[in-house]
Amino acid sequence: MTGLSLKGLKKTFERGTPNQKTALDGVTLEAAKGDFITVLGSNGAGKSTLFNAILGKFRLDRGKIILDGEDITHQKDYRRALNIGCLYQDPLRGTAPNLTIEENLALAYTRKASRSFFAVNRRDSEYFKELLRSLDLGLEDRLKTRMGLLSGGQRQAASLLMATIAEPKLLLLDEHTAALDPATAQKVLALTQRIVSERSLTCLMITHNMQSALALGNRTIVMDSGKIVLDVSGDERDGMTVSQLIARFQEYAGRMLDNDRILLG
Ligand SMILES: Nc1ncnc2c1ncn2[C@@H]1O[C@H](COP(=O)(O)OP(=O)(O)OP(=O)(O)O)[C@@H](O)[C@H]1O
Ligand SMILES: [Mg+2]
Repeated sequence: MTGLSLKGLKKTFERGTPNQKTALDGVTLEAAKGDFITVLGSNGAGKSTLFNAILGKFRLDRGKIILDGEDITHQKDYRRALNIGCLYQDPLRGTAPNLTIEENLALAYTRKASRSFFAVNRRDSEYFKELLRSLDLGLEDRLKTRMGLLSGGQRQAASLLMATIAEPKLLLLDEHTAALDPATAQKVLALTQRIVSERSLTCLMITHNMQSALALGNRTIVMDSGKIVLDVSGDERDGMTVSQLIARFQEYAGRMLDNDRILLG
């Protein structure tokens, strides 16, 4: 099956110490190819840890990760990186500030292919220009500008191109607009939506903005204490307001409290 399949992912950090923390507590998720899932959850809920698990940053205690039919649970992180594009909150992360926009795009473009980065030809250059033009930020005339000179928003937009230029099987966005001003954040989010749908990418996007979480993509999950506690899509999600989403979460949290009370007798 194409897409992403997570089965019972479990991870406890610093086991056996006073700092022991179960960051993933049985995460199971089936994402079909082309699913654009927004991920909500409070600080420490396990969202970034989930991404790190998918990226192979640590060994899981338990669980299975299958990407486009391939079991990657034990695959090295650098091998997974060839098929997974990611973007983080910090616009400085993931790009080479001293290389030009063109060189950065070329690196991302040729990373997966066997040909060398130095073999970037005129056709590639034209392609990069066309992609940059589609961002509508005037970057198409700045191919020779050093990446480090761009503003945070321009850089995140260019990073988005870098992360998707090699047609990844999965795109992971970890609060990639959180450091941008609201107007620029909106622009980059709209761009995200466009690129993801144009290329039918499977994408998980972490955000703390519930409005964008419901407005973008086709499905929203909420994490709490290392678990996926809400998963809304389809008719239920269409037209859902932020207060309805909060009400659904409170329903769940209330149930948990009731259970605790029952457990505590
Ligand atoms: N490498 C690690 N070693 C020890 N504990 C960790 C490690 N990585 C994450 N944790 C812990 O796991 C929990 C989940 O962290 P995570 O970063 O996934 O949260 P998050 O949902 O991304 O939160 P935020 O919204 O603040 O980014 C936290 O309690 C964190 O301290
Ligand atoms: Mg995080």
